[in-house]
Amino acid sequence: MSKLIGNAIFGQSGGPTAVINASAAGVFTEALQQTGVIRKVYGAAHGIVGILNEKFYDMGQEDPSELELLKTTPSSALGSCRYKLAKAEVDDTDYKRLLEVFKKYDIRYFFYNGGNDSMDTCNKISKYLQNAGYECRVMGVPKTIDNDLFGTDHCPGFASAAKYIATTIMEVYLDARVYDIGMITVIEIMGRHAGWLTASAALAAHKGHGPDLIYLPEIDFDLDKMMADVKRIYAKEKKVIIAVSEGVQTKEGKFIPELVGEVSVDAFGHKQLGGTASVLADYFKKEIGCKVRGIELSLMQRCAAHLASKTDVDESFLAGQTAVRCAVDGMTDFMVGFQRPESGPYACEIKLIPLSEVANAEKKVPREWINDEGNFVNEHFINYALPLIQGESTVAIEDGLPRFARLKKVQAEG
Ligand code: F6P
Repeated sequence: MSKLIGNAIFGQSGGPTAVINASAAGVFTEALQQTGVIRKVYGAAHGIVGILNEKFYDMGQEDPSELELLKTTPSSALGSCRYKLAKAEVDDTDYKRLLEVFKKYDIRYFFYNGGNDSMDTCNKISKYLQNAGYECRVMGVPKTIDNDLFGTDHCPGFASAAKYIATTIMEVYLDARVYDIGMITVIEIMGRHAGWLTASAALAAHKGHGPDLIYLPEIDFDLDKMMADVKRIYAKEKKVIIAVSEGVQTKEGKFIPELVGEVSVDAFGHKQLGGTASVLADYFKKEIGCKVRGIELSLMQRCAAHLASKTDVDESFLAGQTAVRCAVDGMTDFMVGFQRPESGPYACEIKLIPLSEVANAEKKVPREWINDEGNFVNEHFINYALPLIQGESTVAIEDGLPRFARLKKVQAEG
């Protein structure tokens, strides 16, 4: 494979995670070391939007110690976007603009870090550049707390959110039991179409401080059935903890907040979720009459760098680093993925998945990992998730508070 000499650009897209910047650190540190091949390393402001607007940063001007701090800095340090590219055959305006920018800045390496929608964007760009005969190596770097990317054993970002959720539920479990009166606690967890993250509540139960009931989007949601489950446990225990995915839908396709009002929609047609816990808590209050609490873990579950899994931090860095190494070695049109050995102790092995296979596909929690009643997960999930949440990430501290990366963000000149 011949050497492709030019510049590289990296962008972050979609909802952030506690470790998405660890992948950025992996891309930047590796790309900056590939001096014989990659001349300049750019970071796009707000993903693809920054490229279209020619707003990107010269990462070579950043202090290496700040790039190192990215590993433990949550949220998307360069800014993110939810921008849907049209199909090139329907409207190629954005693609032409992108090619123009790539030519102007001699971009020969494009790394895009995101989930399902972002891999669709990455795939579309990769195919357009190929058809245009413009030589550029395109690699997707996976990321999503939802853990629903096709072809990979798991996704960077999932394990840290899972560790936070399990830990928080263990703490809430103790708090929700202090009074000598009945109480129902509903904990709402992210994950639009897949229940991986909500299933992680079972890790808390595995330690004896977890929910009584777990509801995932993989199972049609039935309010009457849930009410019966809750009443049965309440009658016996006087305390009930429920973990519910924001993505549960009735068989008619309605999310819980839609049972009581309208919800807004984003560029990809995704409904703005959130509010499930308080809607359900209100139902229980009316029907059972006891003390209730609806807890929405909301953004906290995806930006809790202080509780990140060290395994997740290291693997996220590895995903970014591998994307660059593979591209320099001549690979293009793939997403970096992970696999684990079929038997024996956990290990994270790299696999490459064609972008066209990842784009627009979703990986759900297998039905056989969910109990027959559809209100809990079994040991398959525990065995899957436990190795991923191992290890504590050490966040740098300044004045008793986290010291996150401070990037200079020097605007790149064309
Ligand atoms: O990126 C995935 C995710 O975190 C989902 O779990 C959640 O439904 C969604 O993003 C929230 O998106 P936003 O931050 O755009 O409201």
